[in-house]
Amino acid sequence: MPEDEPCHTRYLDFASLVAGLRKMLDGKVRGAPQDPETVAEVTEYLQSVRLNPKEWEQYTNFVGHCYTRTLVGIDPNFVVLLLSWGKGQESPIHCHSNSSCWVKVLDGELKESVFQSPENPGSKPLKLTAQEIYSPNQATYIDDTHGVHQMGNARTDHPCVSLHVYAPAHSACHTFDRTTGARKLVSLGTAHSNPPLEMSETDDPSHPRFL
Ligand SMILES: [Fe+2]
Repeated sequence: MPEDEPCHTRYLDFASLVAGLRKMLDGKVRGAPQDPETVAEVTEYLQSVRLNPKEWEQYTNFVGHCYTRTLVGIDPNFVVLLLSWGKGQESPIHCHSNSSCWVKVLDGELKESVFQSPENPGSKPLKLTAQEIYSPNQATYIDDTHGVHQMGNARTDHPCVSLHVYAPAHSACHTFDRTTGARKLVSLGTAHSNPPLEMSETDDPSHPRFL
């Protein structure tokens, strides 16, 4: 159970969440960042809803060596994933393959570090542009026009659970080395493995065979 959740809260289940998102994302452009109005509308929606811990706790999956991603909602225009972050676990620095990405914290504290997208990957260190720690029910948004980012559990004494909406779904992305700026194409289907499965740069990250 998350810390500090009042017992009289009215909760939304995953099916209702997907229905709400569908109303906002139906007919929107695919494979490109969303317009500012849609970004704000979905962000406010995610911040306002309260999801039932009795439902989402059934989908958490904590493993020792890496965070995990669990599918909890799907639509032709988007997917909803539940990410389980063990103490101190973090993602690689990564892009979003022209997808729009919203994140809502369900439990714990999630740290985000945003870096400028490198113009010539591998030519110089990544430049940090923003850093933030999000608390339960806070939501944020990123797409490739904002830069690349790293997310992780800000705490070493408590797990973290976050909800991620990707519109559209993408099955691969580039990860980046902070020191050199060098990038690798990796399959997100194996993001819970360590190291992630590398792909060829000629592979198409949006191709469904990687789902
Ligand atoms: Fe991300």
